[in-house]
Amino acid sequence: MGARTLEGKVALITGGSSGIGAACAQALAGEGARVVVGYHRGRERAEALAAQLPGNGHATMAIALEDTQAHAQLADWATREMGRLDILVNSAGYTRRIAHHDLDAMDGALFNEILAANVGGPFSVIRALLPLLHASGDGLVVNISSVSAFTGLGSNIAYCAAKAALDTLAISLARAFGPQVRFLNVSPAAVDTEFVKGRSREELQKKAAQTPLGRVVLPEDVARAVLACATHLRTATGTRIVIDGGHTL
Ligand SMILES: NC(=O)c1ccc[n+]([C@@H]2O[C@H](COP(=O)([O-])OP(=O)(O)OC[C@H]3O[C@@H](n4cnc5c(N)ncnc54)[C@H](OP(=O)(O)O)[C@@H]3O)[C@@H](O)[C@H]2O)c1
Repeated sequence: MGARTLEGKVALITGGSSGIGAACAQALAGEGARVVVGYHRGRERAEALAAQLPGNGHATMAIALEDTQAHAQLADWATREMGRLDILVNSAGYTRRIAHHDLDAMDGALFNEILAANVGGPFSVIRALLPLLHASGDGLVVNISSVSAFTGLGSNIAYCAAKAALDTLAISLARAFGPQVRFLNVSPAAVDTEFVKGRSREELQKKAAQTPLGRVVLPEDVARAVLACATHLRTATGTRIVIDGGHTL
C-alpha cells in the first residue's frame, strides 16, 4: 500500500465535535493526518471521535469562537502538543432561524453576535495560527462557508452576511499569504446535520428533490471536498467550491 497523502501533516478542525467538522476529521485522518478535534460544548463527543479516528497522535481542544483571547494561545499549544500545523478547517459555527422580514427579532445586538461568531471567530483563529501554517510551507485553510453567502437565502440575514464576509476573507488572505498558505472556502447548501434547530429531515429531502442531483448533501460529501482541497486542488486558492447538488442553478 502506498503512503497516504497527508502522512506527517497535522490538521486542526474547529467544530470537529459534530456534523461536517467530525466528517472532516474522519476524512483527513483517513489520509494519514494527525487531527486536533476542536469542540465547544461537546467535549465528550470530541474525545470519543478522536479515540476512534484511524492512526495515532490525535488530540482534542476546546475552541470557543467568541474567545479571541484564548485563540492567541492556540499556536503555542499546537506547537507544544502537535509540533506543527499544516491544515486548519474552520467548521465551527451556529445560527438561529429568523425570518428575513422579522427585523424586530434580528436586532443590532443579535446581528453583531452572529457576525462576530461566524466570521470574527474564524478570522481570529486564522490570525493566531497563521505563523504555524506559514512555517509548514504548505499551509491550507479551509473555511466551511455556505451557498447563503451568494444567494442571500438562509437561516437569517446575519448568517448570510457572515458567510459572504468569510468568502471575501478567503480572497484577501489568499492574495496576502500565498504561496506558503492557501485559502479555500467549501460552500454547501443544506447539509444533513442538526445545525439548524427545527429543520426536519423531510424538509431537507423535499428541498433536495428539487435539485439536479436530487439528494440531500451529507457531511461526508462536504468532507470529501475539504480533503480534495488538501490533496488534489493544489493550484486553487482564494476561491470557493460549491457542494450543493446543483441547488443554486
Ligand atoms: N448543516 C448545514 O445545513 C450547513 C449548510 C451550509 C454551511 N454549514 C456550515 O457548516 C459548519 C458546520 O455546521 P454543521 O452542519 O456541522 O453543524 P453542527 O453539527 O451543529 O456543528 C457545529 C459545530 O460548531 C461548534 N460550535 C457551535 N457553536 C460554537 C461556538 N460558539 N464556539 C465554537 N464552536 C461552536 C459545535 O461544537 P459543540 O458541538 O462541541 O458545541 C459543533 O462542533 C458551520 O460553519 C455551518 O455554517 C452548514
